[in-house]
Amino acid sequence: MRKTAVKQMEMFEELLNSKIDLLPESRVREAMRYSLMAGGKRIRPLLLYTALKGYGMDERAGDAFASALEMIHTYSLIHDDLPAMDNDDLRRGRPTCHKQFDEATAILAGDGLLTYAFETASKADCDASVKAAAIRILAEMAGAGGMVLGQDLDMSETMGVTGWDALVNVHRFKTGCLLSAPLMIACNLAGHAEDEERWHQLGEKLGLAFQVQDDIMDVRLTPEEFGKSTSDSDNGKVTSVTLLGIEEAETLMNRLYDECISDAASFRGFDSCGMAELIAKIRSRTK
Ligand code: IPE
Ligand code: IPE
Ligand code: MG
Ligand code: MG
Ligand code: MG
Repeated sequence: MRKTAVKQMEMFEELLNSKIDLLPESRVREAMRYSLMAGGKRIRPLLLYTALKGYGMDERAGDAFASALEMIHTYSLIHDDLPAMDNDDLRRGRPTCHKQFDEATAILAGDGLLTYAFETASKADCDASVKAAAIRILAEMAGAGGMVLGQDLDMSETMGVTGWDALVNVHRFKTGCLLSAPLMIACNLAGHAEDEERWHQLGEKLGLAFQVQDDIMDVRLTPEEFGKSTSDSDNGKVTSVTLLGIEEAETLMNRLYDECISDAASFRGFDSCGMAELIAKIRSRTK
């Protein structure tokens, strides 16, 4: 990463931590901090900042929404790891929240992060109608028509994911929606609301590539290398790798990432160089 990018992410870490400091001291606050500050890759905030930059905007305009996105994403991971869901012990290189604390505290930490995300977004310093659009996007992309729906489809034993189309649908919601949200918010902040749906679609494609890559890494890496449990096969999960095989999954992932880079170049008033660099960085991630 370039020096300015490293500095920017250090500032973001400080920003997130300072937001947690504002809450009353409690066990749930420490569980929220434990998971939020555990060294995630911050891909959703990076997508927001990079999209704002592509539109020639000041990145600071995205701070409240970048924080909200990372809080929502971290909540989704805490709940995803619970015994009732994926039942995993390792996340971001540390014991999962319910292992470090207990199940009740982990559930509350997720609830606290989700709620605090919306409080944080509501305090953003920007035009009221743009703020309302950003909060709508956060709610739509995180909720029961977005990530939560994807997690429901992922867990549902009755859905019987057997084919590729059904799996794409799961990935689109559980992973794509939270990658679309920063892109959709950025175009609204930049005064290009007319492109929101096209950014939504780009985020879904990126989410599919990202989740196919996650499925490949789940097979290829050890938990220590990946920083999280690799439990899909233990849980008998249908994944891109079980459906396509690892080589075809890899070919598909590369094609999707290439398409995302060329799609990003098609937006009016948008310089896509930074976005192309970020997508290339995501493609070459090692965890
Ligand atoms: C993990 O997301 C969950 C998936 C959607 C595959 P990330 O890979 O972005 O997780 P962190 O934030 O870096 O821990
Ligand atoms: C979950 O997908 C994505 C979320 C919305 C939390 P996974 O269950 O594959 O994510 P990991 O592998 O545990 O990070
Ligand atoms: Mg899961
Ligand atoms: Mg999981
Ligand atoms: Mg996974």
